[in-house]
Amino acid sequence: MKNKRIIIFDTTLRDGEQCPGASMNLREKLEVARQLARLKVDVIEAGFPVISDGDFTAVETIAREIKGPIIAGLARCVAKDIDAAGEAVKPAGKRGRIHVFLATSKIHREFKLGKARNEIIRLAVDGIKRAKSFVSDVEFSPEDGSRTEPEFLVEVCKAAVAAGATTINVPDTVGWAVPEQYAALIGQLYEEVREFQTGRAIISVHCHNDLGLAVANSLAAVAAGARQVECTINGIGERAGNAALEEIVMALKTRSDFFQGYQCGINTREIVKSSRLVSRMCGLVVQRSKAIVGENAFAHASGIHQDGILKKRETYEIMDPQDVGWGQTDLPLTKHSGRAAVASRLRHLGFKMDEADVNAIFSRFKEIGDKKKFVYDDDLTALVEGHITEVPETWSLEYLNVTCGNQTVPTATVRLRKTEREKGGVQTLQEAGIGDGPVDASLKAIDRLTKTTGRLLDYTLRAVSKGKDALGEVTMKVNFGQGELVTGKGASTDVIEASARAYLNAVNRFLESRPRAKEKGKKSQP
Ligand code: KIV
Ligand code: ZN
Repeated sequence: MKNKRIIIFDTTLRDGEQCPGASMNLREKLEVARQLARLKVDVIEAGFPVISDGDFTAVETIAREIKGPIIAGLARCVAKDIDAAGEAVKPAGKRGRIHVFLATSKIHREFKLGKARNEIIRLAVDGIKRAKSFVSDVEFSPEDGSRTEPEFLVEVCKAAVAAGATTINVPDTVGWAVPEQYAALIGQLYEEVREFQTGRAIISVHCHNDLGLAVANSLAAVAAGARQVECTINGIGERAGNAALEEIVMALKTRSDFFQGYQCGINTREIVKSSRLVSRMCGLVVQRSKAIVGENAFAHASGIHQDGILKKRETYEIMDPQDVGWGQTDLPLTKHSGRAAVASRLRHLGFKMDEADVNAIFSRFKEIGDKKKFVYDDDLTALVEGHITEVPETWSLEYLNVTCGNQTVPTATVRLRKTEREKGGVQTLQEAGIGDGPVDASLKAIDRLTKTTGRLLDYTLRAVSKGKDALGEVTMKVNFGQGELVTGKGASTDVIEASARAYLNAVNRFLESRPRAKEKGKKSQP
């Protein structure tokens, strides 16, 4: 009988982070990795170490700090990539994995690599052997596997397994597959490569969502013999994203009548928390109607449905919302709550914070507590996430005053504190701006003070908790004219202030990332 344990390989921090504007700093990645460990994923793909010193450090730090899951680092079949990945995952010891990849499809061989089939096999084998000199756990991905000629893919798999790879991942790199055909390919590999039957190696799947079929393809592949599924929280990733972890896991669990015996080790009650954390860390808002983790996933609007639910929940609900972590709220805190109560709630919410972190959160908590009656867990989480997101603050907000109305030219006066981190000096500067509206006026004043000109490409405002006094959380994507989009986040009971804070967060991130961007540009990209 086939072993039916499905390994959940999370690539939120690698493929997920390749989503434009989703890049995270070290602190954010570490917090996501901690949550992935609480979610009990089997493998965390922590990054692509050769890409930059920042990526290397992130993988190495996660390999050192996170206990439990296997920690994987990605590498092309190139010596310097493999060596970097080997060094980066070293602190994980036996839990370190190197994931090497090389394109195998005809179109990639001819137009991207200019290599014949036998050269591809030689490079793959050499890469796997080199990876094996660092770790025993080596995964190989024939990139664009779903579009590779099946008989050649079988040959590649056999050679990769013989070279020592214990996981062969078959990526649907461009989201081209359809379930029946992808399942047939996986079934063929299972039948024709003996090691997949003996369990010496396993088949993994990695599906992109260009046709909206990533989850369907992954599940069809499981039924055909795949034993590892690569996925991301909220389905984030390149282009239309990757298969969503929460959908795969809950499909296997909810339809256990169909997927008989297949199971994974995920702690499903951590799903919503993981989704929210990743959404905030990457600045990618989850669509309201998104399966499992969208705000409306368990909201029943029609009277007939509500009536049915009241009579028997299962009439219209196929999952218990509490099973995925909805509705786990505790009594709110108030402005009278002390530092110890806030520290204890932070621990309860799973945040690992030192004294300085708790002090910073507590002082923001006091500000918020003065403005709103109850501080809910979601409010506190937003403050923590805002704090984690903060980069060393070159610019910080001291004072903001706006005048606006339907008969007034919107005007903003902004006072900022500038900390010269290298020279150690502090300056206070003030400017005024006018604009189309109070947000525009505030950002223009900030541009003048910081001597940056950011183009706002995306702006989202959401209420963190319920009620008119809820914290407003602003997420924006800003283009400062160089390289990547920068994400900025800010929260306040005042949405104009939240916007100014989010913009300053983006400015600070931009200033912080400039040396890293230069260094990244110097290194070769895959
Ligand atoms: O989509 C893809 O092919 C990948 C590989 C690197 C596994 O992400
Ligand atoms: Zn991918």
